[in-house]
Amino acid sequence: MNISNRAQQAPASPIRRLIPFAEEAAKKGKKIYYLNIGQPDIPTPSIYFEYAEMYKPKVVAYTHSAGLLELREAFTKYYEKFDIHVSSSEIIVTNGGSEAVLFAMAVVADPDDEILVLEPFYANYAGFAAQLGVKLVPVRTYPEDGYSVPKKGAFLEKIGPKTKAIIFSNPCNPTGAVYDEQQLRTIADVAFEKNLCVISDEVYREFAFDGYKAISMMTFDKIIDKTIIVDSISKRYSVCGARIGTFLTKNREFYQAALKFAQARLCPAMTSQYAAIGLLKLDNDYIEQIKKEYENRRDAVYEELKKIEGAVFKKPHGAFYVSVKLPIDNSEKFVKFMLADFEVDGKTTMVSPLDGFYATPNAGLNEIRIAYVLDQEKLRDAVRILSLGLKAYSEKR
Ligand SMILES: Cc1ncc(COP(=O)(O)O)c(C=O)c1O
Repeated sequence: MNISNRAQQAPASPIRRLIPFAEEAAKKGKKIYYLNIGQPDIPTPSIYFEYAEMYKPKVVAYTHSAGLLELREAFTKYYEKFDIHVSSSEIIVTNGGSEAVLFAMAVVADPDDEILVLEPFYANYAGFAAQLGVKLVPVRTYPEDGYSVPKKGAFLEKIGPKTKAIIFSNPCNPTGAVYDEQQLRTIADVAFEKNLCVISDEVYREFAFDGYKAISMMTFDKIIDKTIIVDSISKRYSVCGARIGTFLTKNREFYQAALKFAQARLCPAMTSQYAAIGLLKLDNDYIEQIKKEYENRRDAVYEELKKIEGAVFKKPHGAFYVSVKLPIDNSEKFVKFMLADFEVDGKTTMVSPLDGFYATPNAGLNEIRIAYVLDQEKLRDAVRILSLGLKAYSEKR
């Protein structure tokens, strides 16, 4: 049978594609520190389960395609805290932030159109672009300056007649960068001048450390009609499996178009939506506590990474990732080596090779991403093992 070109060209997830090597290592009895995937180990707050229990209908029915009104209203209150003023009719509840990304791209771009993306980027953007036949055009950021947003010229030189939007995440997965107002203004200015949509993925909004603040693109008035916000409760409340996200826009045409896609997939899971209402009742203390935990973990990883000779990186200020350039030839080979050929006291560490987070061919071959999703002690041990593995890998070459 024919397999479409789009399917053939879709990339495998760089986060998941090396899992078979980890399974093989685990089978042999190796203990693996999984720092390759952004799956938090923090327990889901009990209010999630209390709400799921409380709303036990006779029939688990379809909900409104935009999501339960009660949930959308709860979201409007949550967003107010971040200067994001949206009404319930400007929100579509989606199956995770993932579906919001897909809707956003599908609303603004046709097959063969182009979307600029700050690179390295959340790898699944490439998967969604492939599904839609849309081309991602990279605007590169670099480890040497903490992966900050480049000057306007770097965007302008990539814009052509087919460019429809700019997509990025802030705080950034995979780099941990938090863009300041000036950097975001560069993006807003480009979008305004070139009439591009801005798809701002803000799923790590709360995770900004060291006094940094994740500023929403919804606060830039001059592009308010060009902006789509992608959001998710997955990381914030440690509920990745609940699959609840949101698509926010003040542009009615964007909204109505996305709603048609939402109607085609009927609705997000009803039980998860009810349970999410409970989560949105949690106060700032909960978020502050989680944020502090990640900040401490970031510090632990940062301190251990600083001891690695030849590692190039700046202290990341947000999300729960750090991208690092290492003195290696090929990060995928290095990750495979760590899983198949290396261990310290029966333990090894798994990270993600960063090349899959780039659209530029051969970029990121000497970079890796670490997700600091384990407790501090485990993280320190994991990075120490990584460092020893790096030495062994270099000696082998
Ligand atoms: C930047 C970014 N956007 C979107 C998502 C999608 O998350 P979910 O679909 O679980 O909401 C992720 C998940 O890792 C992410 O890191």
